[in-house]
Amino acid sequence: KTDQYILAIETSCDETAVAIVKNGRDLLSNVVASQIESHKRFGGVVPEIASRHHIEQITIVLEEALQKAGVTMEEIDAIAVTEGPGLVGALLIGVNAAKAIAYAHQKPLVGVHHIAGHIYANRLEKEFSFPLLSLVVSGGHTELIVMKEHGDFQVIGETRDDAAGEAYDKVAKALDLPYPGGPYIDRLAAEGEATIDFPRAWLEEGSYDFSFSGLKTAVMNTLHNARQKGKTLKKEDIAASFQESVIDVLVTKTYRAAREYEVKQLIVAGGVAANKGLRAGLKEQFAGEAIDVLIPPLSLCTDNAAMIAAAGSVAFEQGHRAGLDLNANPSLSL
Ligand code: KG4
Ligand code: ZN
Repeated sequence: KTDQYILAIETSCDETAVAIVKNGRDLLSNVVASQIESHKRFGGVVPEIASRHHIEQITIVLEEALQKAGVTMEEIDAIAVTEGPGLVGALLIGVNAAKAIAYAHQKPLVGVHHIAGHIYANRLEKEFSFPLLSLVVSGGHTELIVMKEHGDFQVIGETRDDAAGEAYDKVAKALDLPYPGGPYIDRLAAEGEATIDFPRAWLEEGSYDFSFSGLKTAVMNTLHNARQKGKTLKKEDIAASFQESVIDVLVTKTYRAAREYEVKQLIVAGGVAANKGLRAGLKEQFAGEAIDVLIPPLSLCTDNAAMIAAAGSVAFEQGHRAGLDLNANPSLSL
């Protein structure tokens, strides 16, 4: 038998996801049950509700993923699962499901870091060329990571406060937009003009770290001041100004890092990679460079299990194995 089949489970936040990937790059099935509707009315993910939904959904999603892939459990070489970071109760459902399957079918188990998954989502589209730089922008993360080879992650910059997606969601909430607000701001921004000069947190000279909480506060203050003066600001313009500030910092720091580390490839990952402004900004900034810019399709940007299978495939090949004592680790580091 020469082909490798990985079954992966992802339950770190509010999507119950199972996928099957052949030989690390060939996506056979990718089933995602989203819970967004259940969390919307609370304006954010409620951990207890997330766990309950995962329990209800996991076996259904698992069956569907196997059926869609046309693969039997016997053919699966290993079970990969997100072990962290994420919501502990949510992670536990996936980890326990993975352990149960691994035990019942006597399959090896591989623990995967959620961010490694986001990065490896790109490999389902195109083979990696090292060294590469990855910009990970999601609801929980904003990181610049250099990879010199498979499985080797060097975090060169990260957020000191809010993640980019978190800032999007908080600003969206202040604008009375539904949760999660990122896509709504993205849409409004396209219709508005960046007329307000919001701050950009560059931090110390040469730093690749990020900070978005000051920007978020500046937006809140602008809204508050306008309200007090009885002025109405166009939501579109606020969205456009906020988005321009976020993208300016993300694109500039990413470009500087790509040059300094002389990378061959830039890969963008995480839910905010779906942002149209960010995609356009990166394409424009890297246009004249011999650096291959990869941004996965929207369905692979947000949480899914295909990315966990892609990362798990390499980890499995490199000999990584987890025991049946594998535990969820909500603050796992890369
Ligand atoms: O990677 P992801 O699905 O979950 C985490 O691991 O966090 O990312 C979700 C985040 C949310 O904050 C959401 O608002 C943001 O990604 N997002 C966007 C867009 N689409 C999703 N942010 C800005 N523009 C978008 N188009
Ligand atoms: Zn994620």
